[in-house]
Amino acid sequence: MFNKEVYIKRRELLRESVGSGLILLSGNDEAAMNYSANPYPYRQDSSFLYFFGLDKPGFMGVIDVDEEKDYIFGEDFTIDDIIWMGPQPTVRDLAAMAGVEHTGNLEELQQRMDHAVKQGQKVHFLPPYRADNLLKIARLTGISHNRVRDYASVELIKAVVAQRAVKSADEVKEIELALDISYLMVESVLKNLKPGIYERELVGKMEGVVGEFGSYRSFPIILSIHGETLHNHYHGNWIKEGDLLVADSGAESPRYYASDITRTFPVSGKFSDKQKEIYNIVLKSQLTAIRESRPGIMYREVHLETARVIAEGLIAAGLMKGDPKSAVEAGAHALFFPHGLGHMMGLDVHDMEDLGENHVGYDEKTQRSTQFGLAYLRMARELKPGYVMTVEPGIYFIPALIDQWKEEGKHSDFINYAKVEEYKNFGGIRIEDDILITTDGCRVLGKPIPKTVEEIESGIG
Ligand code: GLY
Ligand code: MN
Ligand code: MN
Repeated sequence: MFNKEVYIKRRELLRESVGSGLILLSGNDEAAMNYSANPYPYRQDSSFLYFFGLDKPGFMGVIDVDEEKDYIFGEDFTIDDIIWMGPQPTVRDLAAMAGVEHTGNLEELQQRMDHAVKQGQKVHFLPPYRADNLLKIARLTGISHNRVRDYASVELIKAVVAQRAVKSADEVKEIELALDISYLMVESVLKNLKPGIYERELVGKMEGVVGEFGSYRSFPIILSIHGETLHNHYHGNWIKEGDLLVADSGAESPRYYASDITRTFPVSGKFSDKQKEIYNIVLKSQLTAIRESRPGIMYREVHLETARVIAEGLIAAGLMKGDPKSAVEAGAHALFFPHGLGHMMGLDVHDMEDLGENHVGYDEKTQRSTQFGLAYLRMARELKPGYVMTVEPGIYFIPALIDQWKEEGKHSDFINYAKVEEYKNFGGIRIEDDILITTDGCRVLGKPIPKTVEEIESGIG
C-alpha cells in the first residue's frame, strides 16, 4: 500500500467531484476455479485498490459524501480461519492503514444501505464486471439484478476516470517497477528463442520470471509465431527456422500497476530482407507515434499519422499503391493495421476498461468512428500530462481478411492484391512501448528494451 494520506486525499477529491450522495465501492472476493476453496489467483478490484489500497477479499468501501465519512465493511476472521490461514489483521486494523476510521460487518453495511435508500440518498456505484459483485449491489440497493448495470452512476464513472487517468510520480514509479520485470521477461525470450522448441517453453520462462518477483502477469501472455492473430493465446506451435515470433506481455508491480510490452523477433536470429523491410516500417511508425505524442494532441490524430507512415512504407514495398493520405482516409491501411494505436495503462493493463471504453477513450468532443479499423481505437481523445499510454502499431497479414477484401475488390485502388498474395504466410509484427505524457511531450517508460533490427539481432547472438 501507499501511505494512508494518499488514499485519504484520493477519497477527498472523489467526494468533491461527485458532490453528494453515497459512493459504494465493491472489493473483489475470491473467484472459484473448480470449487470455492480452489480459487484463481486473487486480484482486487482496481478502483477499490485506488481509493482504499487493501488487497484482500471480502470488503466493501463506502464514501458517504453527505456526511463526510468513509467506511470499510467486512467480516473479521474467526479462530477457525486463523488455524488455516495464520494470524490475520482485523477489519479495523486494515481500515486504519487506508486512513478509514469507521468499520462494520456486512450486516451493518446492509443496515447503512437500507437507511440510505429509505432517506432517498443517491447511491453511486460503478458497473460491476463480476456476477458476485452485481448480486451484492442488487441486494444492498434493492435494484433488480437485471437492472444493476443500467443504474451504474455516470457521475461516479466520470469522476473516477478523471482521477485515475492522471498518474502521480509514485504511480509512474510503480509502472516502471512492472517494466523492470517486463525487461527480464523479454530478455528471457531473446535468450531462449531458437528453432525446434514449442512456444509454450518460452511462455513458461516468462511466467517463471514473473513468479520469481512474487508478481503476476498483467494479462494472459500473447506469444506466437502467428502474430497475425492479434490476441493469440495458443502456445502449442512448434517454432521453426524463418518464423517471426510476436511476444506481448506484462507484469504487475508490488502495488498492482501494469506493464505492457510487445517485441517481434526473427527465430533464425537474423531477419530476412522481406521481414526486415516490414519490421522497419512498423518501427518507423512506432517512433513517429512516440514523437507525436504530447499534451493537447488527440490520440486519434497520432493513430492516423502512424497509419500514414505504415501506408507510405507499404506503398514503397509494393503492397499498397496511390496516395498514402487518401489511402488512410479511405481506411485501406486497416487491412494490415486493423487495431488502434494504444490504450491507457495503470492499475489495469487496459486501464479502467471495466468502466466503459467510451468513458475512458472518448468524450463529448470525440465520437467513435464507424470505419473498419479506426472503430477499434480504444483511446481517441486529447492527451494530457500524466496520462500513461501504450504505443503499439503493427502490420499483419491475416489470410481470411485478405481473402475477403480481395473477393469484394475492397480498396483495390490502394491495395496491390497480387503482391499481398506473396505475403499470406508472413505472420505479423507488433512493437509496443509504454509512455508517460509529460508537460511538453512524452517519455518512454522503463529501461530501453532491444527494438532496432541491430539490437535484436545482436541480442539473440
Ligand atoms: N493486452 C494486449 C495489449 O493491449 O497489448
Ligand atoms: Mn500488449
Ligand atoms: Mn497494449
